[in-house]
Amino acid sequence: MPENVFLRGDEEWWRQAVVYQVYPRSFADSNGDGLGDIRGITSKADYIAQLGVDAIWLSPFYPSALADGGYDVDDYRDVDPKLGSLADFDEMLAAYHERGIRVFVDVVPNHSSNLHEWFTEALAAEAGSAARDRYIFRDGKGEHGELPPNNWPSHFGPTSWTRTTNADGTPGQWYLHLFAPEQPDWNWDNPEIIEDFKKTLRFWSDRGVDGFRIDVAHALKKDMSEPYIEIIDYDVKRIPLDGTHPLFDRDDVHEIYRGWREIFNSYDPPRVAVAEAWVPPERRPAYASKEGLGQAFNFDLLASDWSAKQYRHSIDFNMKLAKKSGSSSTWVLSNHDVVRHVSRYGLPKKTNLDQWIMSDGTNPQLDVELGTRRARAATMLLLALPGCTYMYQGEELGLLEVPDLPGEVLQDPIWLRDGMTHKGRDGCRVPLPWTREGSSYGFGSGGAHLPQPSWFGEFSVEAEEGVAGSTLELYREAIAIRKQLQTAEDLEWVHSLHPKVVHFKRPNGWHCITNFGKKPITLPHGTVRLTSSPLIDGRLAGNSTAWITED
Ligand code: NOJ
Repeated sequence: MPENVFLRGDEEWWRQAVVYQVYPRSFADSNGDGLGDIRGITSKADYIAQLGVDAIWLSPFYPSALADGGYDVDDYRDVDPKLGSLADFDEMLAAYHERGIRVFVDVVPNHSSNLHEWFTEALAAEAGSAARDRYIFRDGKGEHGELPPNNWPSHFGPTSWTRTTNADGTPGQWYLHLFAPEQPDWNWDNPEIIEDFKKTLRFWSDRGVDGFRIDVAHALKKDMSEPYIEIIDYDVKRIPLDGTHPLFDRDDVHEIYRGWREIFNSYDPPRVAVAEAWVPPERRPAYASKEGLGQAFNFDLLASDWSAKQYRHSIDFNMKLAKKSGSSSTWVLSNHDVVRHVSRYGLPKKTNLDQWIMSDGTNPQLDVELGTRRARAATMLLLALPGCTYMYQGEELGLLEVPDLPGEVLQDPIWLRDGMTHKGRDGCRVPLPWTREGSSYGFGSGGAHLPQPSWFGEFSVEAEEGVAGSTLELYREAIAIRKQLQTAEDLEWVHSLHPKVVHFKRPNGWHCITNFGKKPITLPHGTVRLTSSPLIDGRLAGNSTAWITED
């Protein structure tokens, strides 16, 4: 098997890495068509290197009609011509590898797009044919099959079933899609699907890709036997702990990943993977195990309030889970599916974020200063934790959510599927601002596929670069200092007299103290290495984090 000549060495590099998520269509546009592309990503290799991260993860860049931001894949082994070519991809990979930065790609194995050649074939084929067996087709209920096979909802709206039309124009079978109708679910009981995904993993690994992010990793295996159980929603809290849910977290899903592990380990260095698995936390270690994908996202902090108690609990709990799995824990505050964390932390607790976006961000009022302080403090806390931090493009600029995108520009399928009651996730996917002014704030020369607000320039790289105290400089400094201080994958809690303080130390005496309250607190003795906001008379201000090393 080909070796990754640039990045051989420590096989455990991923355990305490910083991984930066690139959402390709909104990162940088090299050809002025308003859409970010692969060459755009290449052009920013120095910027990413300066940030100091260990790896980037690219959300899907495959051919796609964008029914779900690229998570509807027409061809798993190609680059969307609107984003470039495989040659561009190879060039991009080389540019990052030369700078010591690894590259993950996104694998979307639960569903393809409706434009995938196998789905087109399936639609043209007979009920019961081999072509249909690659997906999940069923006859409808009711006298003429006019009712969907069951009541299962889709994540994006009322039903997970869509009826097909036969060649003669009569209504036909129904197919299952847990997301948009343009995202038909694969049938993972079919060996052809198993083989085809192995081919995809080898295809990208052979090109030198270092890792994979696995979309909806918990949903591949399904129990489609009748009678179907009624399912009202997909709340993780309702997924049983014994692997008996018909759609999610079934025990046999791990057979698939054991097969993938053999492929990953056949490379030098072994390829790595991280599971996006929305399962009860106790079930996460199985995805993160050495025999499986090796790592799983932990979204607990992303879902936490700004609360010392919740943070302490989540950290403690996830450290234990990580030990159980033999993997390191992951930590995440933002990604392409959630409201940016500066905005989350600048809103009152219990704000319904969907409703806030529906009010165009006017109700309740966002406190930008507070959100920024807390977000910076939270980032420093995450970067001090043992394990791997995943960050989302633009968070290093302190970028806010764009809640006031008008309905007519929205791309997220949630908007239309849910009867225009949820605007969805476009507000965190607005193309990045690179310059203070100019066409699309330096994103490209031909506008941006989602409109950028007039305040975007203030958050641009140009506005923050070299500016002491800017969020960009804080990220750069924090990541650099983290690298110097990195140590064994453990922590010890340090008791604080203040209930609103989270204080832990790493085995080498690296202390991280976060003040979740409002009042300044006295810091322990030692050298202050970095703070997320200026000290007040030597004390740590409210909503701030400090890193201290013992003298
Ligand atoms: C999770 C991805 O993060 C999200 O963006 C996508 O809509 C769903 N999976 C479906 O692929």
